[in-house]
Amino acid sequence: MATANVAAAILVTILVTYSVSAAASVADDAYPSPFIPTLTPCNLDEGISLSPVRKEVYDDGHIFDISHRYHTEMPSWGSDDGLGQFLGLPASMKNGSLANNSEMKMPTHTGIHVDAPVHVVLLKDPKNINKLFSLVKMLARKMNPQFIYLMPFLPSVIVSSQNSAYPPLYGDDKDSCGSIGSTLIPPRKEVYGNGRIYDITHRITSGTPSGISEDGIGDEYLKLHESMKNRSDYNFSVIKLPAHSGTHVDAPGHMFQNYYEAGFDIDSLDLEVLSGPALLVDVPRDKNITAEVMKSLHVPRGVRRVLFRTLNTDRRLMWKKQFDTSYVGFMKDGAQWLKDNTDIQIVGIDYLSVAAYDDLIPSHLVFLESREIILVEGLKLEDIEAGIYNVHCLPLRLLGAEGSPIRCILIK
Ligand SMILES: *[C@@H]1O[C@H](CO)[C@@H](O)[C@H](O)[C@H]1NC(C)=O
Ligand SMILES: *[C@@H]1O[C@H](CO)[C@@H](O)[C@H](O)[C@H]1NC(C)=O
Ligand SMILES: *[C@@H]1O[C@H](CO)[C@@H](O)[C@H](O)[C@H]1NC(C)=O
Ligand SMILES: *[C@@H]1O[C@H](CO)[C@@H](O)[C@H](O)[C@H]1NC(C)=O
Ligand SMILES: *[C@@H]1O[C@H](CO)[C@@H](O)[C@H](O)[C@H]1NC(C)=O
Repeated sequence: MATANVAAAILVTILVTYSVSAAASVADDAYPSPFIPTLTPCNLDEGISLSPVRKEVYDDGHIFDISHRYHTEMPSWGSDDGLGQFLGLPASMKNGSLANNSEMKMPTHTGIHVDAPVHVVLLKDPKNINKLFSLVKMLARKMNPQFIYLMPFLPSVIVSSQNSAYPPLYGDDKDSCGSIGSTLIPPRKEVYGNGRIYDITHRITSGTPSGISEDGIGDEYLKLHESMKNRSDYNFSVIKLPAHSGTHVDAPGHMFQNYYEAGFDIDSLDLEVLSGPALLVDVPRDKNITAEVMKSLHVPRGVRRVLFRTLNTDRRLMWKKQFDTSYVGFMKDGAQWLKDNTDIQIVGIDYLSVAAYDDLIPSHLVFLESREIILVEGLKLEDIEAGIYNVHCLPLRLLGAEGSPIRCILIK
């Protein structure tokens, strides 16, 4: 344990040394440049037009987004009119809600998808990762400096040299068809690639807790539109989900009216920020995340992505259907401290909101106002050692959405 801590401390030091120079050399905000640093929601009225940049290539040509953006006109299987209205707004700031909460509804086989919509990027020579790993020699052993890999929304398609699309069964690699007797059972894993890839995304089920329902997401999230039982040649479902479901990401339009109107949506979040070295830290279990707690964590400057593991993980709150307001999150002063004293741009947490319920709106506003910080909520952080990883979080490319389910993985 002590040895592990020392090793972790060394890793942190190396990471910090490295990231400080990286932070200095790249102008990184939650939104790709051009970025207007002095623009706050207050100077909107002064005639400066706010508009997000929509990019296909990030990080100086190293990250290619090869997913299509969802929009109403995009082609949709069997429809002459395209996808149509795929986002609804059941709760809106215009009619008294404190935040806008969209709901998405679309055929599962829409846009770029596997058997559910998928976000895929190509990473070319991920220099950040490689620099980091060449510094940390012991971790470097398995890395190929020029590898290109696919980072899909569903892990079953992660391109893996020898494996079939589905991971082998636990303890049964010979016949991986998943047959036990005559029953077909797909393996469901949390860890892939011999312990190198952790899925830190919660599976969406009808029992996944939801901030807007006491009974979880419910059965409606996936409905068969056409079914083989009804003599169709295939099964074809429709997804209907609040945009802030399960493991998800918030865009600034979630709580800022002007950002929403200007189009600061999921599609314009910076993939470079959503992908790269990250620190998984344990937060003291007896408090919400205040300024004092943030200070005690000693997150060094230069660290840009931090996943905060809290009491929420110990209490297994994400596994309970009923929404629980006593979850741990950021108090406003904790959010402010983070913003003022760290270089963190990804704040990840293990329940549905980074903000403690008592400071739900104020903490969100602190984080989202500058548009430099991306909030990833509802992470699954059980059974992973605290320390340094590469995180990859890919939201769906939903045009106009202020939130999106996201697939996040950690790579050791
Ligand atoms: C609030 O407004 C949205 C759209 O503006 C509408 O769809 C929704 O039904 C409204 N909700 C209530 C409670 O009035
Ligand atoms: C199959 O068809 C029946 C009758 O038309 C309908 O009630 C049922 O909902 C359909 N089921 C599915 C899964 O499509
Ligand atoms: C198709 O949907 C039916 C429900 O109507 C389900 O029982 C069946 O397992 C599905 N078949 C396939 C191939 O997914
Ligand atoms: C909320 O939704 C309304 C539509 O009802 C929209 O006009 C407004 O810009 C949204 N505000 C925010 C903060 O998302
Ligand atoms: C965190 O704050 C919530 C209210 O937002 C409260 O219910 C909970 O007890 C607090 N947790 C801790 C560990 O202090």
